[in-house]
Amino acid sequence: MVIRKLNRGEEPPMDLLLLADPSPRLVHEYLQRGECFVAESNNRIIGVYVLLPTRPETVELVNIAVTKSHQGRGIGKQLVMHAIQTAKSKGFKTIEVGTGNSSVGQLALYQKCGFRITGIDIDFFTRHYSDEIFENGIQCKDMIRLSQDLF
Ligand code: COA
Repeated sequence: MVIRKLNRGEEPPMDLLLLADPSPRLVHEYLQRGECFVAESNNRIIGVYVLLPTRPETVELVNIAVTKSHQGRGIGKQLVMHAIQTAKSKGFKTIEVGTGNSSVGQLALYQKCGFRITGIDIDFFTRHYSDEIFENGIQCKDMIRLSQDLF
């Protein structure tokens, strides 16, 4: 498997990007403002993430996703670690990520990769998404914000 930047003119893997964020409008916005990276195996894209510069020296990891058939094999962790290294090599000082209060696995993954919880954006999902989202039997209402310093 290789993780590489999406080539200029190459079609972004929309199905995969929409796994991480059901809003096509937000996904398109992230793609325009950020840099898209893909994990490729046997000429097939099996993972994706976008690095989005937000504030000075700060970048946000958004839209990370792994194809359902390949989940649970460590690819998500490799993508998060790649995002951290890429952000560091580009000179960013902080990397942030946000996930739902109901995203138990994602919260575990990010903390295993060194992120710490820094805040809660109360009612982020109820305000910005028209459909109710449930995961692990929990309604997704709030965004948990996580961050790590890059040294
Ligand atoms: N409790 C504890 N640890 C958990 C867990 C849970 N419920 N669920 C996952 N983990 C851990 C795994 O054990 C693993 O850690 P380990 O390597 O120390 O064992 C780590 O989290 C990640 O596992 P990995 O196999 O690398 O993840 P993945 O390839 O399945 O990718 C996602 C993770 C989130 C990218 C993938 O599930 C996905 O695409 N989900 C849909 C899109 C999405 O939700 N994106 C994120 C939006 S915030």
